[in-house]
Amino acid sequence: MNLPVHVLNGPNLNLLGLREPEIYGSDTLADIEARLNVRAQTSGRAVVLRQTNYEGELVEHIQQARTEACGVILNPAAYTHTSVAVHDALKMLAIPIIELHLTNPHAREAFRHKSFVSPIATGIIAGFGASGYELALDAMLGLVAT
Ligand code: DQA
Repeated sequence: MNLPVHVLNGPNLNLLGLREPEIYGSDTLADIEARLNVRAQTSGRAVVLRQTNYEGELVEHIQQARTEACGVILNPAAYTHTSVAVHDALKMLAIPIIELHLTNPHAREAFRHKSFVSPIATGIIAGFGASGYELALDAMLGLVAT
């Protein structure tokens, strides 16, 4: 069974396209999802994209990926920098995890320099805007190729 790649998104990413477009760009999450679906088509894997503004719900999405996904691409947004709960949930996954950011948090405010996700991520993609999602999917498809 070819399990899908889960693309999980944290708080405020539902407003992508409207939210500080000079920082995060003008693509919406729906635009990104459409491009990921096209890209996944030839791979035999589907993409399941989720977004939540709630920490506990993000934990549940990560827990679901444990049995329902072949890999997780995660933009935890602000929870990157704060959430031990997200860190602990990710530690239960035995599948690849790619931490993804539209911006490069290390080139921004000091409070964005700490990540609770990076120490347990398989790899990190940051600073490439919306196209980072496609870069992450390409990387993930390579990681899970049999
Ligand atoms: C972000 C970076 C985080 O610092 C910020 O809180 C976000 C988005 C990014 O994609 O660049 O919400 O994860």
